[in-house]
Amino acid sequence: MFLSRLTLRHFRNFDQQTLSPFAGRNLIFGQNAQGKTNLIEAIHLLTYLRSFRTGRERELIMRGREWAMIEAELMSSRRGREHIRLVLRGGQKYLRVNGAPVARQEDYLGLVLAHFFIPSDLRLIAGEPRERRALLDVEVVRALPRSAAHIRAYYELLDQRNALLRELAQQEGPPPESTHRLLRQYGAQLAEEGSRLVEARMRLLAEIIPRTERFYRKMSGGRETLALTYRTYWGEEVAPEQFDPRGYRQRMEQDLSGELFREIEIGHTRAGPHRDDLEFALEGRLVKNFGSQGQMRSAVLAFKLALCEFTADYGEPPILCLDDALSELDDARRLRLVEILGEIRLGQVFITAASRRECAPLEGQMAKLFLVEAGTIRELTEPLGAGGAD
Ligand SMILES: Nc1ncnc2c1ncn2[C@@H]1O[C@H](COP(=O)(O)OP(=O)(O)OP(=O)(O)O)[C@@H](O)[C@H]1O
Ligand SMILES: [Mg+2]
Repeated sequence: MFLSRLTLRHFRNFDQQTLSPFAGRNLIFGQNAQGKTNLIEAIHLLTYLRSFRTGRERELIMRGREWAMIEAELMSSRRGREHIRLVLRGGQKYLRVNGAPVARQEDYLGLVLAHFFIPSDLRLIAGEPRERRALLDVEVVRALPRSAAHIRAYYELLDQRNALLRELAQQEGPPPESTHRLLRQYGAQLAEEGSRLVEARMRLLAEIIPRTERFYRKMSGGRETLALTYRTYWGEEVAPEQFDPRGYRQRMEQDLSGELFREIEIGHTRAGPHRDDLEFALEGRLVKNFGSQGQMRSAVLAFKLALCEFTADYGEPPILCLDDALSELDDARRLRLVEILGEIRLGQVFITAASRRECAPLEGQMAKLFLVEAGTIRELTEPLGAGGAD
């Protein structure tokens, strides 16, 4: 899959810009604050219908303008050419595919097969478990769209049960038996949906964990072994192939029916997949606590590359966007990353960097170069060293 055309109107610092990206590597460079990340953000919006930087749509619209538009022509090997138009106006999104309005966002998500590395993705490792689970579940929904209903049901039930717990915390004296029964009922439903949610996570992780570990090993020149582990809220490690949904459900239901008084005291549900975690470790030590910047970056990149390979195997070769991914990698890791990019079947790659030297190993016949300057993008044709941008 690839974008053959991309038009931005009043989007961030792009007043009006049309780009014909190459169905290969697009190397985008420019000094700080020129619009490189804004461009990647536009592709991210087309993919997920949300920004990775802001929840406030107003910020996406160019200062002094009332609306913004992102328009793209998408070439897919399965569906041919598609025209997507996303307009942001008055806090609303208006989305059309091939001229027809899209009624439900859920029907659209999954159309653009793109994966991203953005510096804030380092949260996948360095962030709170909550952030890690959110990043994981987004991918679960994309890979297994039918899991979306279970994930939604789970979090709705969780909210309801937590609201009830908080309400009880305000009340004097022990809650009546009928309330206990209600909490247990919620618990049973939560355990049912929760075990399905973990099952979906496991189905994705069974594909992603071995690939991530393989790519990491390769990026480290075979010197380091990364291990990803899914850990349940009760502290047990679970290998995706050995996951037992019934066992998980029973354990969770049991945990949610005991010690209700403690849950009422703390005001939230103590057990369930909203407390599970995914750990990244190098030689038995958590990357989060012991990893270097380069190791963290390599681990997140390996995870994203794994998603790309998985998408290529089960869907079609995806688009990969790497925003400022090469900085903080040493020359050897950078070269190995380039090698891996050559091995995975990718429909198209966008790579941004502050200097052209950073992505020099990626230049060649399969690459187009673009220079971003103050909200304008210009294709470069002169070879490296012939003047122009650094
Ligand atoms: N709504 C907006 N209207 C106008 N300009 C905006 C808007 N939102 C952001 N900008 C401008 O976009 C620029 C930032 O662009 P971007 O984040 O893409 O930079 P970058 O090229 O990725 O830089 P870096 O190399 O530092 O990451 C800033 O100058 C900012 O003021
Ligand atoms: Mg940037």
